[in-house]
Amino acid sequence: MNATVLFTGVLAALAGLMFGLDIGVISGASQFIQQEFHVSDHVIESIVSSMMFGAAVGAVGAGWLSSTLGRKRSLILGAVLFVLGSVLSGIAWSPATLIAARVVLGLAIGLSTFTAPLYLAEVAPENFRGAMISTYQLMITIGILAAFLSDTALSYHGAWRWMLGVIAIPGALFLLGVLVLPDSPRWLLMRGYREQAIAVLRRLREDETTVQREVADIDEQLKTPQRGWHMFKENRHFRRSVGLGVLLQLMQQFTGMNVVMYYAPRIFQGMGYDTAAQMWFTALVGITNVLATFIAIALIDRWGRKPILYTGFTVMAIGLAVVGAMMHIGIQGHGQQIFTVVMLLIFIVGFAMSAGPLVWTLCSEIQPLKGRDFGIACSTFTNWICNMIVGATFLTLLNGIGHANTFWLYAAFNVVFIALVFWLVPETKGVTLEQIERNLMAGKRLRNIGS
Ligand code: BGC
Repeated sequence: MNATVLFTGVLAALAGLMFGLDIGVISGASQFIQQEFHVSDHVIESIVSSMMFGAAVGAVGAGWLSSTLGRKRSLILGAVLFVLGSVLSGIAWSPATLIAARVVLGLAIGLSTFTAPLYLAEVAPENFRGAMISTYQLMITIGILAAFLSDTALSYHGAWRWMLGVIAIPGALFLLGVLVLPDSPRWLLMRGYREQAIAVLRRLREDETTVQREVADIDEQLKTPQRGWHMFKENRHFRRSVGLGVLLQLMQQFTGMNVVMYYAPRIFQGMGYDTAAQMWFTALVGITNVLATFIAIALIDRWGRKPILYTGFTVMAIGLAVVGAMMHIGIQGHGQQIFTVVMLLIFIVGFAMSAGPLVWTLCSEIQPLKGRDFGIACSTFTNWICNMIVGATFLTLLNGIGHANTFWLYAAFNVVFIALVFWLVPETKGVTLEQIERNLMAGKRLRNIGS
């Protein structure tokens, strides 16, 4: 692998890191924001979820921007928005400015989380594609952890402005990096810039034969233009795969994972811990999330998708049900506190080893070539909308139906998802994308399109 490819991979991975940083950073900051602005839980929910709203809008615009402006310029725009949003969050003078700043951050995330994997897949040599995409996933969890740790360090001074503002630094590095990225050869060919495309490929690939073969491959693929919306209206089978992608992302979000990502300190407060302990346990959640992602990476091509999903949803259901039960009984004493924390960590393991990485993988595997961009845009949009709903309702649920019922509700969702995996999700391990597409179009049941 040459230096340019490595550099390109590192950069696109940085986009994952930015994604994670912005997901994780709010959990530690929100209690201090609440104290400074004297606002209700509803306002906090709006501050948390405004980012996901921005991301949903960003994800919808991203397909169009990355095809008209190009991948590189879309990433530059994303990076600029990251820096702007972070600085604005740090200096926010009212809850309303903070909400606006988080919408800007959301736009950045929506845009770059659509464009970075696309760019990555287009510049990575074939044999590194899988590794690069898992790295991207891992970077998300590392970003979340980094944000939790920096929040913890800054919490001793209640410095929420620094927590939010400091993300401008990795944002600026990301911007500097994307400025020197080569444009995607595939996009250049799509737009008819043949000479430039070949020049870029010569920088990315070892020898002239590989360059020429890849140009020919891309030319061949471009004969199948993206006709997502048209296909969606005309083709019933495509509507089924789009529906499955949407459902998979809905399931991922309603596992309840982001409840913990956004509100972990608040949950630990509910277990009777003081601020310092809340922050350290939140950091522990972040570490668990990173480590358990390796389980998924190790198992995904060995166990297959479905067994991992069954295991993950079961583990999550049990973890949440027990946490709910403990909250119902009333947690007393150190032993019970620790036990409840461990059960919450087990829930995190369940997510990180399954639905976290796998849903993203499945969503890109099940769409037919002609509708891939459209299909992935629909499922990604769903991810952000559901993410927003989860973030915007958690405190209301806690205040309305209580801690125990809230956790039981999410546990029940996870039980339902076990059944949905059984009925609707295909096993795609070791099957080519062409085979999946053929099965889908032949009208096989969704759960059988992988065999
Ligand atoms: C999800 C995010 C979540 C993260 C946690 C991702 O796969 O899409 O919503 O915050 O995992 O690690």
